[in-house]
Amino acid sequence: MKTVLVTGGAGFIGSNFVHYLLARYDAQIVNLDLLTYAGSLSNVKDVKDDPRLHFVQGDIRDRELVAMLFAQYDFDAVVHFAAESHVDRSIAEPEVFLTTNVIGTQVLLDAARNHWRLRPDPRCCEYRDGVRYLQVSTDEVYGALGPEGFFTETTPLSPNSPYSASKASADLVVRAYANTYALPVLITRCSNNYGPYQHPEKLIPLMISSALAGLPLPVYGDGLQIRDWLYVEDHCAAIDTVLTKGKLGEVYNIGGNNEKTNLEIVKLVLAELGKDESLISFVPDRLGHDRRYAIDNTKITTELGWAPAHTFDAGITKTIQWYLDNEAWLIGVHDDG
Ligand SMILES: NC(=O)c1ccc[n+]([C@@H]2O[C@H](COP(=O)([O-])OP(=O)(O)OC[C@H]3O[C@@H](n4cnc5c(N)ncnc54)[C@H](O)[C@@H]3O)[C@@H](O)[C@H]2O)c1
Repeated sequence: MKTVLVTGGAGFIGSNFVHYLLARYDAQIVNLDLLTYAGSLSNVKDVKDDPRLHFVQGDIRDRELVAMLFAQYDFDAVVHFAAESHVDRSIAEPEVFLTTNVIGTQVLLDAARNHWRLRPDPRCCEYRDGVRYLQVSTDEVYGALGPEGFFTETTPLSPNSPYSASKASADLVVRAYANTYALPVLITRCSNNYGPYQHPEKLIPLMISSALAGLPLPVYGDGLQIRDWLYVEDHCAAIDTVLTKGKLGEVYNIGGNNEKTNLEIVKLVLAELGKDESLISFVPDRLGHDRRYAIDNTKITTELGWAPAHTFDAGITKTIQWYLDNEAWLIGVHDDG
């Protein structure tokens, strides 16, 4: 890796990935982010003066801008995080999910293909050595599980929300570019992440910020929806592993074997903060709420040697402490877009 385009590097996982790369590689990083409500420069404030990091505020759907960045920086890797990512918002307003998550992906793929191919001939399907495009996807593309079983990389895509449908569609476009144009791509599908810099609209920071403010903690339906939780730094390490060691054209599931119900998470947050469970407030369930997700991570662990470094207990304690130490961030991130 010499020059990496990280899209969405001012969001939750992207900003953790920027920190991860800067700590481990001597690479140039261009962070392309539109700074929607979900992105914040405060997530990369501590590294803003690092000469290896270049921030560009812009839209992944802007073809001219993306082509210009490829020409200017000559990326040899793309790690594509930028997305509309909140399921509730996708239910209320699906369209931006389709344009950002699907068309945005296609714009990046086109730019990579145009820049990396060895000859200008549009039929040319040979690319510079070592270049690669990694699509950061989600386990939600597989739909919902019953009480048994796990998602493997061959589980059929069966998305249930406009968010997961847009992510699944993007995955299929990536797959098509690999098959049609032999573009060197990789896809990762990760379970629910938790950790520093997650927008307080998402479960864990929402529960922490509500509990700290003494407000009711809203829990959808019966709270027994199951998610498989992974500490964000372990996700970053998995992406690094796939980018450097993954087999081109392959999909890799990423998960930490940490299945928890939402209610368990909420109770755990309350216990860690010394707050009473009477703050829990059950609210009408999300439309089409998937009941259970669980990842089979055999492929990435056995073929690439990745394993999560954090147990759930260690990761959640670290996470809650981070939000306690960064209460100003938790309040301020709502306002600074
Ligand atoms: N959060 C999770 O638990 C999880 C799990 C698996 C996969 N993922 C995937 O990881 C990626 C990152 O998720 P996240 O939780 O960090 O999301 P996030 O919502 O915190 O961050 C998304 C970032 O993308 C930027 N962005 C949005 N639209 C853009 C556009 N048109 N052009 C440029 N930038 C734009 C936003 O400003 C923001 O900084 C997403 O692709 C998501 O599908 C997330």
